[in-house]
Amino acid sequence: MIQTINLTKTFPNSKAPVLKGINLKIENGEFVSLVGRSGSGKSTLLYIISTLDRATSGDVLYDNTNVTNIPKEDIYKLRNKQIGFVFQFHYLIQELSALENVLLPARKAKELEAKRPLAMSLLKEVGLEGLENRYPAELSGGEQQRVAIARALIMEPTYLFADEPTGNLDSINGLKIIELFEKFNREKGTTIIYVTHDKEFAAKARRQISLVDGTLV
Ligand SMILES: Nc1ncnc2c1ncn2[C@@H]1O[C@H](COP(=O)(O)OP(=O)(O)OP(=O)(O)O)[C@@H](O)[C@H]1O
Ligand SMILES: [Mg+2]
Repeated sequence: MIQTINLTKTFPNSKAPVLKGINLKIENGEFVSLVGRSGSGKSTLLYIISTLDRATSGDVLYDNTNVTNIPKEDIYKLRNKQIGFVFQFHYLIQELSALENVLLPARKAKELEAKRPLAMSLLKEVGLEGLENRYPAELSGGEQQRVAIARALIMEPTYLFADEPTGNLDSINGLKIIELFEKFNREKGTTIIYVTHDKEFAAKARRQISLVDGTLV
């Protein structure tokens, strides 16, 4: 279970807080969408929940372990083994092919060969069969985004955080991504939290949460 207690975030160069006391509980195996207007703090909240950024005050708990102040090595372990993240602006490595990008976390975990079949099937499921050896510069924005989604799933994380994973995709390919998420959620029990501006995609989640003025409603 992930729990946040009174999370606040104020950026150094702004006076008003972006997050104003977020209390959120997400049980293992939940499938949640996060919506809200541009600038409402969705990315900020997702970064903090997923340990990629720190709150100004408040706590984040994973299965009752407070990760706010645990040693860096423990955070890295949690991230590598348990957390997958799809960034709003997907960061692929330009010198690596699509397949190599997907396999990068596996290579770091010394599971390169073991994960190769999953990498191939993930690329197929996101609609990129046949493009495995292309470099990011040879792929469209939406195709790059789908590579980043496959990369986030390659370690079969316990938790998947996705920041507008369908933002660059047409409705058919966007739906494919949501269906892939549903499959991971159903078959592997992956806890999934994704941000979207698309009402139809948001409605696919089992729970919808909404950020308004730095507060959850
Ligand atoms: N590093 C930063 N320094 C200062 N202000 C920031 C920083 N990052 C974000 N903000 C501000 O915090 C607010 C929330 O940003 P955030 O990126 O979380 O919004 P969002 O809900 O994800 O928006 P969008 O839907 O456009 O992606 C915005 O007003 C933004 O300008
Ligand atoms: Mg955002």
